[in-house]
Amino acid sequence: MSSAPSSHRILLGVSGGIAAYKSAELVRLLIKAGAEVQVVMTEAAQHFVGAATFQALSGRAVRTHLWDPAAEAAMGHIELARWASQVVIAPASADLLARLAQGHADDLLATLCLASAAPLSLAPAMNRQMWAHPATQANLDLLRQRGARILGPAAGEQACGEVGEGRMLEPSAIATAVLTPSVGGVLQGRRVLISAGPTLEDIDPVRFVGNRSSGKMGFAIAQVAQAMGAEVTLIAGPVALATPSGVQRVDVRSALQMREAVLQHLDGQHVFIAAAAVADYRPREVAAQKIKKCADTLELQLVRNPDIVAEVAARQDRPLVVGFAAETNDVESHACDKLARKKLDMIAANDVSIAGQGFESERNALNVYWHDGMLRIAPARKSEVARQLLTCIAERLAHATGTPS
Ligand code: CTP
Repeated sequence: MSSAPSSHRILLGVSGGIAAYKSAELVRLLIKAGAEVQVVMTEAAQHFVGAATFQALSGRAVRTHLWDPAAEAAMGHIELARWASQVVIAPASADLLARLAQGHADDLLATLCLASAAPLSLAPAMNRQMWAHPATQANLDLLRQRGARILGPAAGEQACGEVGEGRMLEPSAIATAVLTPSVGGVLQGRRVLISAGPTLEDIDPVRFVGNRSSGKMGFAIAQVAQAMGAEVTLIAGPVALATPSGVQRVDVRSALQMREAVLQHLDGQHVFIAAAAVADYRPREVAAQKIKKCADTLELQLVRNPDIVAEVAARQDRPLVVGFAAETNDVESHACDKLARKKLDMIAANDVSIAGQGFESERNALNVYWHDGMLRIAPARKSEVARQLLTCIAERLAHATGTPS
């Protein structure tokens, strides 16, 4: 992560939830990026993590109580509320969201939120039923309307053993969102269309031809583009990922459906980023009923799918078009060949033969090529790779339109 100016004075609220242990990593990442971090823990948070952990990582005594004379003498709570350039709460429990929505001032963290004029970001974390409850959703709507930025949550396995939406976003994704200005960001006023995930091509009602794309790179790009100020539309193949906050998502299954959705949302877009792993072929026919096993061999006839990114790039009134090339060998030559053949403005190439990088992974590394330049993005979390890629895209966009980036 690049270093942040020390103007990042972050008041990090930690409320009660098992995800509180991940906030220690968040403090580490923010400090590493040059931010100053003051941790404030609720009573419940202290049942999950000790204040000493946060104190050691942030280099500041953790604040826990409104009625702590020594801490108040050093910096009163109103002074602390004024000190913060941002208030970030991670994890934000269902109870804390309810108290904030109601404007309570019944503990130090809630009081600071009322007393601070700084932008508020909330990273909710809770059991999926609690997240889905209309009371929680109504509280979130209210907080959103008042200008709070909601980061996540993500979907997946939960500490309670259930699977669903409600996991706190990964600390690196929260850190990226917090350190990337949303107002006046480099993509402010830009509309960005992104395709992500695999496409699945049905053979019969129970089988399909698919690929190993997880959609994580495309979703990370959508989330970071939104944080950089863009209006984002995400055309998603079938993936088990939560919609990044503030992003318009359209779900599709097949390449033909993805093409239709992309073309339908293309008007007025400034950038199209084709991060989807679109199936090159689909079965000529989709059997109406499950194919029964009879012969020793089965032949499937496949026909070519339309090339979505090439079709967009061939249009006269086209946005800046960025493709992806997932390769296992001769990465640079294959990528540059696709850049020219598909008439793209940029191509982001990755070597998917390297373990722990690319497909299904949390990390990636990219080589980005355009007609007279290239950028190497070193291995990092996908949110950080997305930030560097989008910064580069914003520069190319400014170059293409003659506006300063
Ligand atoms: N792409 C697309 N529509 C397709 C196939 C690919 O929009 N039918 C886009 C992908 O989203 C990606 C780029 O084209 O941005 C390159 O995808 P890739 O699968 O690497 O390229 P292909 O043209 O399919 O080449 P090959 O499979 O031969 O490597």
